[in-house]
Amino acid sequence: MSLRLGDTAPNFKAVTTIGEIDFYDYTENSWVVLFSHPADYTPVCTTELGRTAQLNAEFEKRNTKVLAVSVDPIDSHHGWIKDINETQNTNVEFPIIADADRKVAELYDMIHPNASATATVRSVFIIGPDRKIKLTLTYPASTGRNFLEILRVIDSLQLTADYSVATPADWEHGQDVIVVPAIPTEEIPAKFPKGHKVIKPYLRTTPQPNI
Ligand code: BEZ
Repeated sequence: MSLRLGDTAPNFKAVTTIGEIDFYDYTENSWVVLFSHPADYTPVCTTELGRTAQLNAEFEKRNTKVLAVSVDPIDSHHGWIKDINETQNTNVEFPIIADADRKVAELYDMIHPNASATATVRSVFIIGPDRKIKLTLTYPASTGRNFLEILRVIDSLQLTADYSVATPADWEHGQDVIVVPAIPTEEIPAKFPKGHKVIKPYLRTTPQPNI
């Protein structure tokens, strides 16, 4: 059965480009982006992993560990990393899991047989430090993902985890956020001293609380 929001992300041990890891040990107390790609030495995947490496400092700032998965073997991953670094002008340091026995792919339902019987699709799981799945995304092989959007979602999730707020459509870091409906309007001033607006009784906004 596929994993859904709020489910516990299952643990696994895997061979990766940084050595063997236990997923829970490696990601302890961190946010996690676990994402799959169809295959090594393919063009869209090369740009995706390069972009992820370029954003390394942004993931670190957000206490987020990134792990990539494909069903290709470890020697293939090591060779391909050289191409990614060369063509995308970066340095891949995050682990790429060599999931030749498809253990991780099956655990996380990353093979969609009607898309491809053998290759992993472009799945993304964002997992909280509580090991709960906070976001899932699935893209087809032909569409590269937007990694700035993944960072934006992490920002939103971390705000929600730390404050009683949600983020509106197209929200970007620095813009006003929404006070969750569970907070009565009369309690807003004490909780959100930067001020608030009541646009409708159910739509209350406040400046982003953590800046
Ligand atoms: C790619 O990464 O470019 C790709 C992989 C599988 C199918 C189509 C494109």
